[in-house]
Amino acid sequence: MKNFRVAVLANLKENAPVFEGMGGDQWDDLDSASTVQTLVEALKSGGHEAEFLEADETIIDTIRQYKPDICFNIAESHFGDSREAQIPAILEKMRIPYTGSKILTLALTLDKPMTKRVLAWHNLPTPEFQSFERVDEPLEEGMEFPLFIKPAREGTGMGVSYESILHNEEELRTQLEYIIRKYKQSALVERYIEGREVTVGLVGNLIGPVARRIPLDESAHRVQAGLRFLPPMEVNLAPWLEFGGVYGNTLKTDHAADLEYLCPAPLDEDMIDELNWLAAAVFRVTGALDVSRIDFRLDAHDNFKPYILEINPLPGLMPKLSDIVIEAEADGISHAELVNLILNTALQRYGMI
Ligand SMILES: Nc1ncnc2c1ncn2[C@@H]1O[C@H](COP(=O)(O)OP(=O)(O)OP(=O)(O)O)[C@@H](O)[C@H]1O
Ligand SMILES: [Mg+2]
Repeated sequence: MKNFRVAVLANLKENAPVFEGMGGDQWDDLDSASTVQTLVEALKSGGHEAEFLEADETIIDTIRQYKPDICFNIAESHFGDSREAQIPAILEKMRIPYTGSKILTLALTLDKPMTKRVLAWHNLPTPEFQSFERVDEPLEEGMEFPLFIKPAREGTGMGVSYESILHNEEELRTQLEYIIRKYKQSALVERYIEGREVTVGLVGNLIGPVARRIPLDESAHRVQAGLRFLPPMEVNLAPWLEFGGVYGNTLKTDHAADLEYLCPAPLDEDMIDELNWLAAAVFRVTGALDVSRIDFRLDAHDNFKPYILEINPLPGLMPKLSDIVIEAEADGISHAELVNLILNTALQRYGMI
């Protein structure tokens, strides 16, 4: 096993800029110093040299000094419509390998409406939707209440709460005003899917020449080779009725340690196959690499039909609490092993091992 010099690139909450009028959840997507430290330790336990570098504008200089063979990238960055793509863009300019998805995928998947257009084009099941740039845009035909609203380009349940469930025009306009003003971006309005909350993590890369389009023939071979699916995880939202059964920001941050995570989720084999196939399809059509987590809702009113909510190509890696870490553990993969699995997947892809 070869040893590498690995720079862990992340944005720490504690280093994030502070500005006037900033929301309390502004940096909830960023990482804590302790999470990043566990990544460094994990890589060292894999036999590598590893160091954390703050992924801000100093990164060009610090990378030149540290001279990594590869970067372990989990940087979300701070500002800009395609912020998660900024560090990969710099690394490609510097010709330095890095783990995870590349520029186009990270820019695309941060933008939920744009991602849903791609999914819809591939006939993948995602709730019907409309994106709003203005508060007074009329609701399109076919968009019927109850609806669900969230910011177009955030994560960690930011802007998501029980108030995201919309029952009428008045609630729609109030929430549009709130989301567009607070998050300074367009709002995504979707059909509300009442049902169970399931997420699927995977590590690996699709093998071989892979068509970008999903085969129309239902019986056609489903291309999944090269991907390792972790057991699906369900969050039991039943005890959290005051949160409307919505896995929003408060639950994801303040109550992460109090939630009941069912992993493997109690689902039958056929459903797990279907979720894995959909996860692989989303991974494929968004061009994701190395690792991802795909979030679903199972429609309680339609025989638990799975709907894709989003793909997270930079899933949280906090020990014990992040969804994909819980999934890995349920499969006998420790946090440190998961981190090294992601690194090795990238090293393999670059032909470095
Ligand atoms: N169309 C919908 N119908 C019902 N609930 C929804 C819908 N869209 C989102 N939700 C709820 O809101 C939560 C957050 O949505 P989503 O996963 O899109 O946002 P996120 O903030 O990017 O999440 P993450 O923390 O995974 O990055 C979901 O886990 C789900 O509970
Ligand atoms: Mg999500």
